[in-house]
Amino acid sequence: MTQDELKALVGQAALEFVPEGAVVGVGTGSTVNHFIDALATVKGRIAAAVSSSEASSARLRAHGIRVLEAEAVTRLPIYVDGADEIDARGCMIKGGGAALTREKIVADLAERFVCIADQSKLVPVLGGFPLPVEVIPMAVAQLTRRFAALGGQASLRAGVRTDNGLPILDVRGLAITDPAALEAEINQWPGVVTVGIFARHRARVCLLGTPEGVRRLDFEAA
Ligand code: A5P
Repeated sequence: MTQDELKALVGQAALEFVPEGAVVGVGTGSTVNHFIDALATVKGRIAAAVSSSEASSARLRAHGIRVLEAEAVTRLPIYVDGADEIDARGCMIKGGGAALTREKIVADLAERFVCIADQSKLVPVLGGFPLPVEVIPMAVAQLTRRFAALGGQASLRAGVRTDNGLPILDVRGLAITDPAALEAEINQWPGVVTVGIFARHRARVCLLGTPEGVRRLDFEAA
């Protein structure tokens, strides 16, 4: 199977987690695009969606699925999104598609994060994928020095602005052995809007696409 077929498999499988009548949190990326397409086949059974990007909102609306602003809801039963990497505890690196801030906001509204990914995303230690960080422009030089002190090489993602109009730093060379501690540390640095470590908002369930079918990983609540 191709990587895209594995993504389609888990996008379809995630439907089983969608409660009847729910407002569904929807992430961003090529795997989630398959989930959105699958969701369209049962759109009569959901109330609406809250999305983490303009791109996902446009795709949802094109399927005739109502999209609510995050401010319009106080709670979501479920948030379905992909990941750039996920470890054996459900901690993730996200933001390869530059949507990390809105992803964390929508994930924060949700009771349960269901991660959908092809099997290549499961790693023993996070950090092989460059860590995305959405930042305030005037802090770029100082943040680059801070990452260097941790052994990371930060570079601006060329030609990219997020849906919030801000740049992304991609940080290479970090071995993230304690995702929760590093997330908390980086969150303290002035000029950081969102770091793409999802430890506090880690997945509760991961559906991994494999050539043998969907492999389900369950992670304990904190
Ligand atoms: C978007 O900013 C990311 O967090 C995505 O969830 C992540 O990059 C996974 O994307 P794919 O599903 O395209 O691999």
